[in-house]
Amino acid sequence: MSAGNNLVTINIDGKETQVPAGMNIIEAAALMGKEIPHYCYHPKLTVAGNCRMCLIEMGMVMKDRQTGEILLNENGKPKIGWAPKPAIGCGTNAAAGMYIKTDSPLVKDCQKGVMEFLLINHPLDCPICDQAGECSLQEFATEYGRGYSRFVEQKNVKPKRVQLGPRVTLDDERCILCSRCVRFCQEIVKDDVLGFTDRGSYSTLMCYPDKQLDNNYSLNTVDICPVGALTSTDFRFKMRVWFLKKTNSICTESSVGVNTVVGSREGKVYRITPRRNDAVNDTWMPDSGRELYKEVEREDRLIRYGWGEDAISFKEACLRFKEMLRGGRTAYVASSLMSVEEQFLFKKVVDNYGGPVYGVYHQRKGDGLLISTDARPNLRGALVTGLLKKLPDQDLSELLTRIHSEDVDNLVVYHEDVMQLGLSEEDLRKVRIIFIGTHENETSKIASLLLPLLTVFEKAGSFINQQFRLQKFHPAVPEPKGIRADIDLLHEVLTDKESDGVHIEVLWKEMHEQIPQFKEVNSFKGIPDEGILIENSAFKHLQFCEGKGLHFNPANR
Ligand code: SF4
Ligand code: SF4
Ligand code: FES
Repeated sequence: MSAGNNLVTINIDGKETQVPAGMNIIEAAALMGKEIPHYCYHPKLTVAGNCRMCLIEMGMVMKDRQTGEILLNENGKPKIGWAPKPAIGCGTNAAAGMYIKTDSPLVKDCQKGVMEFLLINHPLDCPICDQAGECSLQEFATEYGRGYSRFVEQKNVKPKRVQLGPRVTLDDERCILCSRCVRFCQEIVKDDVLGFTDRGSYSTLMCYPDKQLDNNYSLNTVDICPVGALTSTDFRFKMRVWFLKKTNSICTESSVGVNTVVGSREGKVYRITPRRNDAVNDTWMPDSGRELYKEVEREDRLIRYGWGEDAISFKEACLRFKEMLRGGRTAYVASSLMSVEEQFLFKKVVDNYGGPVYGVYHQRKGDGLLISTDARPNLRGALVTGLLKKLPDQDLSELLTRIHSEDVDNLVVYHEDVMQLGLSEEDLRKVRIIFIGTHENETSKIASLLLPLLTVFEKAGSFINQQFRLQKFHPAVPEPKGIRADIDLLHEVLTDKESDGVHIEVLWKEMHEQIPQFKEVNSFKGIPDEGILIENSAFKHLQFCEGKGLHFNPANR
């Protein structure tokens, strides 16, 4: 049941607290900083109540049936009518006058009993289990378990290494039958492919005949599996999770701006997992977005300044860039993959050297969930910073006309492959191309100057998502040797002095002063982890292709 707005007073372990009426007791206790161990409960799924790990004692203040008056005991305190059996915290909703015990001897006994049952057939896989280090079964066994096993019989043997789909591997022996994965597929993705067969301790999770877990959200089942039964085929056996450094980031897959955590070790990214943000992506993310870390080490990564086979230093490249900008008429192709900070600086470059700016509206079929029709993370940023004055077209026909009228000497292309956007090699041979980007493409191959950029995993910055929510990301791994931050590159092009680059906070001070939409944000540090909605009335009239924010939480819909 979703929690209402009216507050009720309940008593948890002797302390009174106010919680929203209807909130379940796991969440209510968490508000007080108390953990009620649980497996099957997940805040974004319906309550199944099958693991019994969250047992609590529940009572209500006793009242006289005739008068309705509260009955008092000999100390003058209200008499509590305790339920004769423990109740499940996930299925008990807060009501006025409710009394809860989460750590009574009975509750502790129940927890020990449940743990013992769960571990009876559980394999001793911890040393080689990918979940070790973030496994609720491990953690609760230590905290709430008996500490030793009384089971002397043979353990059940179940299938191990079952491919449920292209990205998810199941170890059935580790499954505690919590049904989170089943409910996720039914309730969130509406792709009902998982179920249990057989009964009791022989129950086994599997895909329905002729079906597989292959939807683009399948890896969320791995995230929410409380044990190591479901593992990511990509991440499996690659790295122990306790070695991973966690860095908050934003997915660049679309304008939804899914909040993520990048797991890295010693300069290498190993996985991307979703970060909870109830206003954006709840606790989910698409599988396709998790693949994006592979772009860091992709073979076609641009990792040197220069052109063709020739390499020059960063300083030389900046000098050459400036000379080219000064020596001819320039047109610019901006990108909605740029961060807000890059867009702000790129606009300054354009203002400084002059010339028209074009953008491209990359649209594709959204999925109605976390992949929007707008295939870029920061179109709003280009509008807010003033880099683009209007919603861009889906091609570059205006630019093409300009090139045909021999009105352009230099074409600065940021990230885009303009050959995919209506310009031919013959058109491009008429201008000098300065390509600024992370990876090679057909346009970069014929560029007169290549200026490599950092990926989102190597730099700090911010994007403005489809809700006009400003969200920030941080560097998870160092930049490739010799490659400077994107904002340093643009800053260098703007200055004639010796420069060591620019600090992101310096940019934010300027943006705060110059951009009305950022009047509430005066520093990069000041952008909250969950992002902040910015004023967007100036853009209300624009016809964006994907409508308003998408998220799953039924309570928020
Ligand atoms: S699921 Fe947890 S308890 Fe089981 S083997 Fe893996 S880490 Fe150990
Ligand atoms: S595979 Fe994991 S999420 Fe699915 S039922 Fe088993 S323990 Fe629960
Ligand atoms: S969490 Fe309450 S029964 Fe599983």
